[in-house]
Amino acid sequence: MERKDILVPEEELNRQRDFQTKIKDQFAARQAHPLACLETFGCQQNVADGQRLMGMLEACGFAFTGEPREADLVILNTCAIREHAEQRVFGNLGILTHSKRENPEQVIALCGCMAQEERVTRRVRESYRHVDLVFGPQALWKFPELLWQVYETKKRVFSVADEHGTIAEGIPVVRERGVKAWVSIMYGCNNFCSYCIVPYVRGRERSREPAAVLEEVRQLVEAGYKDITLLGQNVNSYGNDLDADYHFPDLLADIDRIPGDYWVRFMSSHPKDATPRLFDVMAASRHVARQLHLPFQSGNNRVLQAMNRRYTREKYLDLIRCAREAMPGLVLTSDVIIGFPGETEAEAMDTVSLVDEVGFDALFTFIFSPRPGTKAAELPDPASREEKQKWFDRLLEVQNARSAALHAAYVGKTVRVLVDGESEDEDYPLSSRTEGNRLVRLRGDQSLIGQFLEVRITGSNTWALYGEPL
Ligand code: SAM
Ligand code: SF4
Ligand code: F3S
Repeated sequence: MERKDILVPEEELNRQRDFQTKIKDQFAARQAHPLACLETFGCQQNVADGQRLMGMLEACGFAFTGEPREADLVILNTCAIREHAEQRVFGNLGILTHSKRENPEQVIALCGCMAQEERVTRRVRESYRHVDLVFGPQALWKFPELLWQVYETKKRVFSVADEHGTIAEGIPVVRERGVKAWVSIMYGCNNFCSYCIVPYVRGRERSREPAAVLEEVRQLVEAGYKDITLLGQNVNSYGNDLDADYHFPDLLADIDRIPGDYWVRFMSSHPKDATPRLFDVMAASRHVARQLHLPFQSGNNRVLQAMNRRYTREKYLDLIRCAREAMPGLVLTSDVIIGFPGETEAEAMDTVSLVDEVGFDALFTFIFSPRPGTKAAELPDPASREEKQKWFDRLLEVQNARSAALHAAYVGKTVRVLVDGESEDEDYPLSSRTEGNRLVRLRGDQSLIGQFLEVRITGSNTWALYGEPL
């Protein structure tokens, strides 16, 4: 698709705004706002989409509730990454038959990554007849029009065509209050890792124009957001589809020039496209956090090849070396899959040994879950669940020991943190983050929320640090 066809034209966006007005007018005779209940599952990309949905809902006149029973509109914004995520959504959909029975006027919508899977939409069409509206991530910007169609036709609406995907700027966003904000810099994925459903449900890679991203970050900083995360399935391929020769390190360097007191982070970074230039730009920046989420998935070269990751264990270790040379003290996190089809115990232990060798600050660990439609779901998978669980437990043991030791090394040190909210711990009632995004539970009162502080670390465990403001 040509670049000019990727940007949704202003007239189209205005049409959507007209639908927002129509929906608002429809509820105008009511005393109170109609209520929407939105539940988002999955990754930050989906959370960011949920915030755009809330923006459009607000423009349609809706207020929000967490209680599906009192809602005029219930939306499940779903995730398809693992089977368990899907089962939860089907469970929730089942429960919604009750609220619909009590209130037949209630509209129920399913969106997000699951909604883009043919297998899922077929099941919803046939067995979940109380669902009125189904739309995939590529149709998100058309939500006002789709919702209007439901109200006007009183028929079920499905917008789930397998699309390349577009970019719609200027959609309103309702953000969480506080200091953290998400900014999608690109959408979709072209990588087709053999286990992963994302490229099938989120369309092809498309980068927002640099000026649009820069303006959004500038506005967020001006509005007081202090911890901004740039999102993309692989931010390192940002810019490949732009007309200009402009790439992720260029964007980071330009963002860094925005004045203010804030940190900027990004995720995820694919090792096949991470470069020394990226690390140099990070190292030279004022605002880019010295933190890198660089998913490696497996420490074994045969498995990496079967996963279609397009790098080797050696290349990954070289990258880590290079990143640490550029940024001593860099905080490193990663994603790992155990039990890819055909993986042997020895291959899984290569993953464990890589974890031990690198010493990640934290790890997001998953047991392989077959996703229908992906290549890996077709492969023979002889290892039993029990065996995989044993390898997984070994991985956790090694990682937990690493995290605990790395955290213990903070004790006695003074670090800068951003206080981002309250914690459930009575003795340490505040929650804060270091530049490397490590959780620090803090003593202190609520007036500190939203501030950068120097704190002394007084304790630690595998998952958190404990501290006191200086
Ligand atoms: N785009 C990101 C990347 O490549 O690093 C990852 C996106 S995915 C939302 C987050 C993580 O889920 C992946 O890094 C992978 O570890 C895990 N994942 C993806 N598909 C999976 C599957 N079929 N089974 C288990 N884990 C999976
Ligand atoms: Fe999935 Fe790979 Fe794309 Fe990440 S890069 S979203 S793991 S296909
Ligand atoms: Fe994210 Fe889940 Fe979709 S992890 S991209 S919401 S499949």
